[in-house]
Amino acid sequence: MKGIVFTEFLELVENKFGIETVDQIINESELESNGVYTAVGTYKFTEMVSLLTNLSNLTNISPNDLLKVYALHFFDVLVQNYGSILNMYKTPLELLESIDAHIHVAVRKLYPDAELPYFEVAKTSENTLTMTYHSSRAMYAFAHGLMEKTFEHYNQKATITYELLKDDGTIVKFEIIKE
Ligand code: HEM
Repeated sequence: MKGIVFTEFLELVENKFGIETVDQIINESELESNGVYTAVGTYKFTEMVSLLTNLSNLTNISPNDLLKVYALHFFDVLVQNYGSILNMYKTPLELLESIDAHIHVAVRKLYPDAELPYFEVAKTSENTLTMTYHSSRAMYAFAHGLMEKTFEHYNQKATITYELLKDDGTIVKFEIIKE
C-alpha cells in the first residue's frame, strides 16, 4: 500500500482524535515500518489493518465507518494531488465509470507497485451505474466514501446502495442512481 494512504490517514487521526491517539495506535500495532511513512514509499497492507483495528478499539467506531470517513478526506487529497486526472471528467458518473479503464491505469503508471481494486462497471440506464468492487483488501467502505464524495465534488446527488456478494467484503456490488 502506498505511503500517501498512511500519511494522510495518520494526519486525519491527529486532526480528529489528537496526536496522543496517533502515538497510541502506532505503539499498539506491530509495525515493520515503526510507524514512519513517506508519501512515495510502499508498506504492507497489514500495517493499515493493524492501525485501523487499534483505532477502532480505542474509539468504538467500526473499521468500516472509519474507512468511510477516511475516504471523504482522501478524495480532497486526490483533488489536490491529481486534479489534472479528475478534471478530465465533466460528470460524476463519467468519472466513476472511468476508474478502471483510465484513472487507476494512470495511477499504475505512476506507481507500478500500487495495490488497486478492480471494478466491473455497467451503465444500466442514463442515470444508473452498477459497479462491482473486487479486491483482496475488502476496502469497499473506502470505495463507498469516494463515490459519495465524487457526487459532492460536482454538486450533484445520488443514492448509492451496495450488497456484499462475498461475506468477507472482497466482492461488493454497488448501485449508483443519480438524482
Ligand atoms: C484521480 C482519481 C484517483 C486517483 C489518483 C486514485 C489513486 C489511488 C491510489 C494511489 C490508491 C492507493 C494504492 C495503494 O495503496 O497501493 C488508490 C486506492 C483505491 N482507490 Fe483510487 N484513485 C482515484 C479515484 C478513485 C475513486 C473515485 C474511487 C471510487 C470508487 C477509487 C477507489 C479506490 C479504492 C477502493 C482503493 C483502495 C484499494 C483497494 O480497495 O484495493 N479511487 N487509489
